[in-house]
Amino acid sequence: MALERTFGIIKPDAVKNGNTGAILAMIEESGFRTVALKTHRIAKHEAEAFYAIHKERPFFSGLVTFMTEGPVVVMVLERENAIAKWREVMGATNPANAADGTIRKRFAENIERNSVHGSDAPETAAVEIPFFFSTAELL
Ligand code: RTP
Ligand code: MG
Repeated sequence: MALERTFGIIKPDAVKNGNTGAILAMIEESGFRTVALKTHRIAKHEAEAFYAIHKERPFFSGLVTFMTEGPVVVMVLERENAIAKWREVMGATNPANAADGTIRKRFAENIERNSVHGSDAPETAAVEIPFFFSTAELL
């Protein structure tokens, strides 16, 4: 299978709680190469655009407030089957349902403050990677 790229975020709860290094170690142990990685403070308009698919959901405004409360780490991850594999390493959205050994099981506080984001399909990754990274950053 060919190499694939996906997009990830270490969310404000995990950065604030000092879990960035442990999460990056789990990513590397899972066979991903970090193609690009940087810290970023997400602006309100960026969070609203990034999660626009959820704008009618009751949790939308809380999600925007959460994603803008502090710095995040944005990253592009590469391996075979990267999109599905990153979702597997992350674990279920609600940490109460996340499998043992997943990032969300280990670090997430609740269904909202759940430590990491991952693209959910090739079409999403193709939009999310250039949302945060320029062509030059991905060489
Ligand atoms: P993500 O997009 O961040 O990778 O998470 P996901 O696919 O597992 O979950 P999704 O349904 O796309 O939800 C996006 C994010 O919104 C927050 N959320 N809060 N309060 C709630 O009921 C609720 N539901 C979702 C979470 O931060 C979730 O990851
Ligand atoms: Mg999602």
